[in-house]
Amino acid sequence: MDKTIDLATNDYDLKKHFDFKKILIQRHYHEPTPEFLCEAGQIQQVFLNILKNGAHAMLETADVRKPQFDLHIKSDQHSVYIEIADNGPGMDDDLKRRIFEPFFTTKKGNLGTGLGLSVSYFIVTENLGGMISVDSTPGKGSQFTIRFPIKTP
Ligand SMILES: Nc1ncnc2c1ncn2[C@@H]1O[C@H](COP(=O)(O)OP(=O)(O)OP(=O)(O)O)[C@@H](O)[C@H]1O
Ligand SMILES: [Mg+2]
Repeated sequence: MDKTIDLATNDYDLKKHFDFKKILIQRHYHEPTPEFLCEAGQIQQVFLNILKNGAHAMLETADVRKPQFDLHIKSDQHSVYIEIADNGPGMDDDLKRRIFEPFFTTKKGNLGTGLGLSVSYFIVTENLGGMISVDSTPGKGSQFTIRFPIKTP
């Protein structure tokens, strides 16, 4: 997660659209930070897609409240939970239902392909054996939760 945030903060292309440095990032990494096996590049791609979406969404509400991510990483006996919450505009039920569809985007022009979340969904569920879900309170923000089972030998 930290590497992905560094990447997003320093990425020139991203900086043209939104400045990650202006976002308050609250890291709630519960100790001990759980360890599990996965392909680092794949999970970073998932985190980056979700962080980019959040940063983009929070631009809409930046004049109302300071953009903030709340990141939780925790685990119990069976699973690792990664939560990425933004305080942007949130999503109504119609939008929430469609966000994981390939090519679904609400971004105008060539700002979005609509593939970020569908690819993330595929990576999490098919490649890494996990689950991804979204919660939102319209007007308050959105929260993505990724869960991976911990395989015990
Ligand atoms: N955090 C969020 N807050 C509000 N809306 C969101 C959020 N994340 C995603 N969305 C909505 O879900 C849609 C689909 O997201 P997805 O990442 O798949 O595509 P995209 O961001 O539009 O394009 P791309 O990821 O290819 O640049 C977005 O266009 C946006 O409407
Ligand atoms: Mg996206």
